[in-house]
Amino acid sequence: MLVTGKQILDHANENGYAVGAFNVNNMEIVQAIINAAEETQSPVILQASQGALKYAGVEYISAMVKVAADNASVPVALHLDHGTDFKQIMLCLRNGFTSVMIDASKHSLDENIKITKDIVDIAHAVGVSVEAELGKIGGTEDDITVAEKDATMTDPDEAAKFVESTGLDYLAIAVGTAHGPYKGEPKLDFDRIKTIKERLNIPLVLHGSSGVPEESIKKAVANGINKINIDTDIRMSFNKGVRDFANENPDVYDPRKLLGPGREAAQAVIAEKMNMFGSAGKAWR
Ligand code: G3H
Ligand code: 13P
Ligand code: ZN
Repeated sequence: MLVTGKQILDHANENGYAVGAFNVNNMEIVQAIINAAEETQSPVILQASQGALKYAGVEYISAMVKVAADNASVPVALHLDHGTDFKQIMLCLRNGFTSVMIDASKHSLDENIKITKDIVDIAHAVGVSVEAELGKIGGTEDDITVAEKDATMTDPDEAAKFVESTGLDYLAIAVGTAHGPYKGEPKLDFDRIKTIKERLNIPLVLHGSSGVPEESIKKAVANGINKINIDTDIRMSFNKGVRDFANENPDVYDPRKLLGPGREAAQAVIAEKMNMFGSAGKAWR
């Protein structure tokens, strides 16, 4: 069942758990996520980055997720991850996305407010939910790279002004995580999450969540995180599944036999995350 991102995240916020937002790039990953959601009876968000849309095509991504959602017994949302391009966001709205992220976090607060509010007004007019970001999350995704020294934590006062002025539905905050693999252990600012949650009481989003230890994830959820973005851990598990199989079976050239083990490996990791985030068993009908 396809629902909006807001429906999924308001339920998570009201009931004190987090939902995984898992990045999709191809059919096998869509299936790995949906299978894990069915297995754990978890509401789920499938998200595509601008790079994923460039690779697979917005129509393919949206058609695959729509089929998956229509056949699923759990609530599913289709979300644009880190949208920076007005035209591409409009294309997602036309293609049935039920949630979009406008990421204008590299701009000044006033500029971020202006860009975000334009998207909120348009998306809300057609019933689509909006995520926006304040603060600078370290690492690279698509065309945005933030060096560690330039990553800046989200300021609670600015967050209040940002939410009030834009009318966004859920807020991505910078609290110590970074996109991509970690070199050391990430140190999260749990007090900052709690303060922002107490001020705003809206769903909060954690990016760069692959590789964050279970204990930190659980504490982040307890302090107010409701959407947890995972990409790198899917890539790594998929890659390992495919490579291990290919190394053990060097003569196999059937793509189904090669990619199937990647799908299975990713599904196992995704199901583990759903249990960790507290979304398992929270699906409604
Ligand atoms: O945070 C974003 C995701 O990891 C997307 O990565 O732009 O390489 O698809 P990508
Ligand atoms: P990771 O690749 O670090 O899991 O980050 C995913 C993300 O934040 C997508 O927006
Ligand atoms: Zn991200």
